[in-house]
Amino acid sequence: MFITFEGMDGSGKTTQIVQLTDYLRQNGHRVLTTREPGGTAIGDQVRKILLDNKEGEDMHPRAELLLFCASRAQLVGEVITPYLESGGVVICDRFIDSTYAYQGYGHGLNLESLRHIITFATGGLLPDVTLFLDISPRKALERRAKATLFGDEYNRLDDMEMPFHERVYAGYKDLILAQPDRFIVIDADATPDVVQLRIRTALVPYLNLPTQPSEPPRAPKSSSKQKTAPMKKKSPRKDNLS
Ligand code: TYD
Repeated sequence: MFITFEGMDGSGKTTQIVQLTDYLRQNGHRVLTTREPGGTAIGDQVRKILLDNKEGEDMHPRAELLLFCASRAQLVGEVITPYLESGGVVICDRFIDSTYAYQGYGHGLNLESLRHIITFATGGLLPDVTLFLDISPRKALERRAKATLFGDEYNRLDDMEMPFHERVYAGYKDLILAQPDRFIVIDADATPDVVQLRIRTALVPYLNLPTQPSEPPRAPKSSSKQKTAPMKKKSPRKDNLS
C-alpha cells in the first residue's frame, strides 16, 4: 500500500505523518516513512542542492524539475518499490503531485512534458491513495511565518511570493478534480489532533484499522468548508494522468 501526502508548505504534513506512522505500527502494519526530495543518501545530496541554495542563485525551473525527478527515481528504485513488493506500507511526504503543482502550475512548465519525465523517473508508479492536507495559501504562509520565528530551516522555495503559492494551490485543486479516486482531501485547518483523526478515518477503508471515534464538536466560529472526498479501495496503479 503506497500512501502519499501532499499540501502547501505549512500544511502540517510532517507532524501528521509522524503520528500516522506510529498509529499504523501500533495496529500491526509494517510501515516505511520517507520524504521528497531526499529519502536516500543520493536523494539527500540532491535535496541539499535544491533547498539549501542560500546564495540565492537562480535555478532554472527545468534544472529544478530534473533534480526533483532524479531524487525521485533513486527513491522509487532503492526504497519504495522494494518495500511495496515486500508487502509493507510506504508513506511518502510529497511525491509526483508536488512536481505537477510546483514545477507545472507554479513555474509554468508544460504539464505534458512533465508527465513524460515524471513517468520515466517513477517507472509509472502511482500512489494507491494521496492525502491532500488542505489549507489556503494565506493560512499556510501564516503558519510558516510562525515556524520561522522558532528557527525552522531556511527553504529557498519558501521565498517565492504569494502568487506562486496561489498557482500551486490551484494546481493541486485541478489535479484532485482530474483524479478524484486517488485523492482524499483532508480539511487541515483544525488542531493537529482533529486533522489526525480525519486522516485515520479516511484510511479505514484502505487499511486494517479500528473504526475511528467521531470528531469532537467544532468550536462555534470555526469554518466547516470541507468534507472528506468519497473513497474507493484501489490496487497499485500505473500512471495515466492527463
Ligand atoms: P520541504 O522542506 O520538504 O517542505 P515541506 O515540509 O513543505 O514538504 O521542502 C520541499 C519543497 O520542495 C517544498 O517547497 C515543495 C518543493 N517541491 C517541489 O517544488 N517539487 C517537487 O517535486 C517536490 C517533491 C517538492
